[in-house]
Amino acid sequence: MSLLATAAELDLDLPRSGPWTKRLLAGSRLGGAEPLVHHVSRLGGDITDWTGRAGPDQLLDRLRRSGLRGRGGGGYPTSDKLAAVRRHGPGSVVVVNGSETEPVAGKDDLLLRLRPHLVLDGLLAVTRILGARQAFLVAHSAPALAAVRTAMRERQDLTLPVDVVRGPANFVGGEESALIRWLEGGPALPRYQPPRVVDRGWRGQPTLVQNVETLAHLGLVLRLGPDWFRGLGLADEPGTMLVTLSGAVEGPGVYEVPIGTPLPQILQVAGADPEAVALLVGGYFGSWLRAPEVQGLALSRASLRPAGATPGAGVLHLLPRGTCGLRESGRVLAWLAAQGARQCGPCAFGLPAMASALNEVADNGSVEALAQLQRWGDQIEGRGACRHPDGAVNLARSAAVAFPEELQRHRKGACGGHRQSSLPLPPVAHPR
Ligand SMILES: Cc1cc2nc3c(=O)[nH]c(=O)nc-3n(C[C@H](O)[C@H](O)[C@H](O)COP(=O)(O)O)c2cc1C
Ligand code: SF4
Repeated sequence: MSLLATAAELDLDLPRSGPWTKRLLAGSRLGGAEPLVHHVSRLGGDITDWTGRAGPDQLLDRLRRSGLRGRGGGGYPTSDKLAAVRRHGPGSVVVVNGSETEPVAGKDDLLLRLRPHLVLDGLLAVTRILGARQAFLVAHSAPALAAVRTAMRERQDLTLPVDVVRGPANFVGGEESALIRWLEGGPALPRYQPPRVVDRGWRGQPTLVQNVETLAHLGLVLRLGPDWFRGLGLADEPGTMLVTLSGAVEGPGVYEVPIGTPLPQILQVAGADPEAVALLVGGYFGSWLRAPEVQGLALSRASLRPAGATPGAGVLHLLPRGTCGLRESGRVLAWLAAQGARQCGPCAFGLPAMASALNEVADNGSVEALAQLQRWGDQIEGRGACRHPDGAVNLARSAAVAFPEELQRHRKGACGGHRQSSLPLPPVAHPR
């Protein structure tokens, strides 16, 4: 996908002023992975020089004070998760989650390809804090795998076994328990929880699953300290965030912005079409925001919450003119329904039924189908073993309220869209 090809042009794409900032994406434009020697000289020593004398408790405290939250979508406090694994004592397992199975995301792949040592610093730090005995690094693409393998050969400080593996291709395969099952040789399908993976994960061992971007931030936090990290972003949501921007923008790609940056500022500087009607925030589990609504909102959980949205893993898609948001949502919902592992009722029966209802709404604005959509959403929500159905229901609900003019038009047999699609739907992949 073109988004994944923007790594080398990041600096070229960036305007001279605007909300952009660089922490994870700082450094020279090399057109490829930053070698260890550059990484170490740029950051003033290797990670052990910075953290060597600090014990696990001090490192964990540094992390807690930074307020770092996971960047894989859920936004869980990273220090709490580490503490939950650490309480089981040494010998745990760490999984770096770079599966990035969301079709319009590209930030983890980009980080692994451009700045693998930032991620490996984070991995090294958490394995030391936990006294872990085994780690896995899961990447999405062949170039990311190659960059990580080269970077691993450059370092001598990762003393535990680290398996570098290509992630599962199915959408739910990026969910932490599915990923663990897959790393065990099983299908990439979620497990019923509890037990939580922090208690019983890979082969029954306490397991820390952390997103690629989270670990890259974590490495910098432990080097430069919580105050440095809190120097950007919001008091409750500190730091920067990688945003993958696609759709009706002149400069699609991955950008780094402080959390709390106004959405209009991000869109404007990325060359957004001012006539675009809606923005999908949070990817395929996300929410549609209409253009006027976007004006008052910022990229933060607190700002987006009242609008029923969340930044998720930082995926933004601006719906191009002439593309019908109802039809797009119907397509994506059908795709999400096909992705469900069909292990639980909500996925096996609920999502396909909701997808048909939403497509009927998109076809003719059917009031009955709209009511069914609402009813089935209520029945499905919270009933799956994982969050997949909840994410899909969120998208469907948001589509049903975000496009009232389109609904009216469809009821009269007209559609403002030209039936061209904007959101990519890769072939449905099998969990193994
Ligand atoms: C259906 C589904 C797919 C997911 N896919 C990913 C993914 O591709 N990458 C990722 O890091 N997290 C993904 N997650 C979230 C993970 O389960 C997990 O919460 C995350 O890796 C934890 O990392 P963090 O705390 O650093 O955010 C997914 C969750 C669900 C429900
Ligand atoms: S809710 Fe769906 S995706 Fe999640 S475990 Fe159940 S069947 Fe699988």
